[in-house]
Amino acid sequence: MMKSLLFGAVLALACANRAPQRTAFEPGKVWPDNKGVHLNAHGGGVLYDHGRYYLFGEHKVAGPTGNSAQVGVHCYSSKDLYNWQDEGIAFAVAPASSGSEVEQGCVLERPKVVFNKKTGQYVMWFHLELKGQGYAAARTAVAVASKPTGPYKYVRSFRPGAGQWPLGFAAAWQQPAPGEAALKGWTPEWRQAVAEGLFVRRDFAPGQMARDMTVFVDDDGKAYNIHSSEENLTLHVAELTDDYQGFTGRWNTIAPAGHNEAPALCKRGGKYYLITSGCTGWEPNAARSFVASSIWGPWQQLANPATGARADITYNSQSTYILPVAGKQDAFIFMADRWTPKNPIDGGYVWLPLAFEGDQPRLRWADRWDLSAFDQPTAPAALK
Ligand code: GAL
Repeated sequence: MMKSLLFGAVLALACANRAPQRTAFEPGKVWPDNKGVHLNAHGGGVLYDHGRYYLFGEHKVAGPTGNSAQVGVHCYSSKDLYNWQDEGIAFAVAPASSGSEVEQGCVLERPKVVFNKKTGQYVMWFHLELKGQGYAAARTAVAVASKPTGPYKYVRSFRPGAGQWPLGFAAAWQQPAPGEAALKGWTPEWRQAVAEGLFVRRDFAPGQMARDMTVFVDDDGKAYNIHSSEENLTLHVAELTDDYQGFTGRWNTIAPAGHNEAPALCKRGGKYYLITSGCTGWEPNAARSFVASSIWGPWQQLANPATGARADITYNSQSTYILPVAGKQDAFIFMADRWTPKNPIDGGYVWLPLAFEGDQPRLRWADRWDLSAFDQPTAPAALK
């Protein structure tokens, strides 16, 4: 009797000190970290390093000011992808009024971290908008650290592709087309002009716009920054230098004039798959998908990967990353955000297994699922 009482007390103590272990994903639900606090890593991406996953995302605060960067990039780590340990702020914004490009109040979105084998450095890229300029600056920025959890030190920001035409650019497009300046926006003629380099020419000298972004490291170690450019009309893929901290100048367009945001990329069976969203700000819309045999294209547009109820709004979410599950072949998790711009800290996370039907990436809603979904002989299915 005495013994079992004692055992009970010890057990109760142990449980009180530990958050309940999670054994499944519950898309869209509150997702507590090891301290019981809802994860604060929006527009995130995941790095797998030495047996641990590291989640990086925008740290949001309550109220509309939370739509600009008040704190920085939050990092969490996990061994199983369900339970996340708070690793604190990996990249902190500079003090307000310090004049730094990354000062408090700037817009810092969609951070992604990759490891560079040559330098042994962890390299973080993000979308940067300068304080007080709305979304006009359209820059991509880089910071580095010697540990995955940081602290990351700011390096610099870029408008990529300055003085370089994209690989697939026709020589004739290097000169303005007659009458292009007078074209009315959003007409078919204007879209055609965009596809034939209207904005690429405009931004040739200063460098191309870079907003929503992701970073992808290929099997050969080459890394690429993929971003929404040309007033969000066209995605650009730009090769990074060997240290992943700058651009080589080789770049190309993806889906010219297709109006894509929120790019997320994976490679499976030698092919590249891209999932994006349309451009409706914080409001969700239907996802798009693309496939290519080379990262330089040509990219073929496929269907909306989402199926079932609310497929037209991607289950009320917007893509941010495709996470390859370590140790499982062709197992990918689609990661997306449920934005809550009135109170950004409440933003939710929609993680779903990404299946493939032939070349077509497929998403099915699941209230609850776990990694055993990838062990099914058929396409990943929900637990219930
Ligand atoms: C979204 C974009 C977000 C953020 C937002 C601002 O379309 O994907 O990262 O930039 O617009 O309205």
